[in-house]
Amino acid sequence: MSSKFVVYHDVFRGYVTTSGTEGNLHGILLGREVLPTGILYTSRASHYSVFKAARYYRIKCEAITASFNGEIDYLELEAALTANRGTPAIINVNIGTTVKGAVDDLQRVLRILHGLGYTRDQFFIHCDGALFAMMLPFVEHGPEVSFQQPIDSIAVSGHKFLGCPMPCGVVVQRKEHLLKLERNIEYLNSKDTTIMGSRNGQAPLFLWYTLRKKGCAGLLEDVKNCMQLAKYLRDQLTMRRVSCMLNDLSTTVVFERPDDDVFIRKWQLACEGAIAHVVVMPNVTKDKIDLFVNELMQVRQATRTQDRCIQSYIGPFCQCDSCVTKHNDRVVPQS
Ligand SMILES: Cc1ncc(COP(=O)(O)O)c(C=O)c1O
Repeated sequence: MSSKFVVYHDVFRGYVTTSGTEGNLHGILLGREVLPTGILYTSRASHYSVFKAARYYRIKCEAITASFNGEIDYLELEAALTANRGTPAIINVNIGTTVKGAVDDLQRVLRILHGLGYTRDQFFIHCDGALFAMMLPFVEHGPEVSFQQPIDSIAVSGHKFLGCPMPCGVVVQRKEHLLKLERNIEYLNSKDTTIMGSRNGQAPLFLWYTLRKKGCAGLLEDVKNCMQLAKYLRDQLTMRRVSCMLNDLSTTVVFERPDDDVFIRKWQLACEGAIAHVVVMPNVTKDKIDLFVNELMQVRQATRTQDRCIQSYIGPFCQCDSCVTKHNDRVVPQS
């Protein structure tokens, strides 16, 4: 079955993808078609699909350090763009990194490009919004990421915040760029601009149904709840002196990795090095968080034999004995 949820508009066009990954693969491919000699800039905290795109398409990639909160290091980005001045830039801006939910500051990236004299035809911006781009428009006082700004492509996942029962996503791009990908396929009597051929026709229906049923008011309510519950989880952990961190524009609570593998499997915690995270989505309730925190504290008591420092992962939010002693004038919980 083949189906397209196409935003036909003079300026933008998009389609329902198989996932956020396909959106990234498509966005970065488009970047390469528009700027064939371009260098891809992305933070090390980016999803692996971004590096996969660079590998598949043989694009030179500058992996920029991420700050402790997961945002791209803007000074390092500026230095790399300066060093490569004269070569076009394809920039992946994260709207919610996978592990820490960090949102790169698009305005700051644009200011850097402008300051270095990159003209509009010398850069292409893809936004990986798999995790948070569906939520960001509903965050009070959140930054605006839209085609009102000089971005070229944005991808979201449909099975995360929107809770679509099968993996899917949406990618939206400037139509003028898509002409570079477009090929006429005679037997389909159609033009091909997508990565996949046949696609799931049910995914657009589920997306349409969710968007229509919830509407802007329902989505706003979901975002508010998720943000509040994420803060609640962070505060519950902080009160119990579990090192944890929650970015401002995020519902991803990062905390010290539990020692108990059974607990990790039971709660299907995603872990990276010494940290784990919980992504608070609309299916998470306060009761579930309470249950989680209680169980976590039980396994912590039973299995944790020594104080552990995770400052290298979450910076000043580490609550190990030596960090707390060093920063004993710090105000906890985080505001
Ligand atoms: C930031 C980010 N980008 C892309 C992806 C890939 O999305 P999908 O699982 O829909 O392919 C993820 C998945 O977790 C993600 O967190």
